[in-house]
Amino acid sequence: MRTPFIVGNWKMHGTRAEAVALAGAVRKAAEGAPEVEVGVAPPFPFIEAVSGICAGGRVKVGGQDCHSEAKGAFTGSTAGPMLRDLGCAFVIVGHSERRHGLGESDECVGKKLRAALASGLIPIACVGELLEERERGATEHVVRRQLQAAFEGLNADLAGRCVVAYEPVWAIGTGRTATPAQAQEVHSDIRRFLGRLLGDPVASTVRIQYGGSVKADNIDALMTQPDIDGALVGGASLDAAAFTRIVQFQRS
Ligand code: 13P
Repeated sequence: MRTPFIVGNWKMHGTRAEAVALAGAVRKAAEGAPEVEVGVAPPFPFIEAVSGICAGGRVKVGGQDCHSEAKGAFTGSTAGPMLRDLGCAFVIVGHSERRHGLGESDECVGKKLRAALASGLIPIACVGELLEERERGATEHVVRRQLQAAFEGLNADLAGRCVVAYEPVWAIGTGRTATPAQAQEVHSDIRRFLGRLLGDPVASTVRIQYGGSVKADNIDALMTQPDIDGALVGGASLDAAAFTRIVQFQRS
């Protein structure tokens, strides 16, 4: 079966001292959840310090983004090999704050996913629809288009290393979580579509995280759904007690 994978996306928050303290708390939380894979994605300047705190423990450290090239004249960008050099195991690509805030296209996200794999990082590929797209019944279409651009042409071995995060944009930072049933409906469609693109054996092993206002009081119900394999947590991952409870979820 698929090992649950819960990741805290710290976005652009905190100081170095806060990142170090939070990493220590997450390291402890992960010890109390031996069946769960746990990760944190700190802001780039704090990755090295957080990697140091997490070394030898169960918490994987990751980047919040990477460039599609391994090196070059790209001011302000960070390459996959640099993240590996700092001890990162994974990287988030295609987060909605980059797709919609910075104009990253499906094609750009696909290139980043391939660059991440080429550097030995596990990509967490984010997909999700806007509120307006959900309201006009386009959720499935949008999510499938994003998946197709990200995964088309990948061989089964590479695709099997990837994680998908379904993050409906209307649920991010709004306190308006998708209901477990709404999330499950999209997750099962994602798995069906990946099966078509990559074959069912790969699709059945790819972990699909849910993201969007995940909190200590809704994680249990979300994780009870058969195709929800973990969570990508924003705001609540900055609160050590809340994130500890999320990592130590209880399937009812
Ligand atoms: P919130 O948990 O703050 O809604 O953010 C979700 C998210 O974007 C995680 O990547």
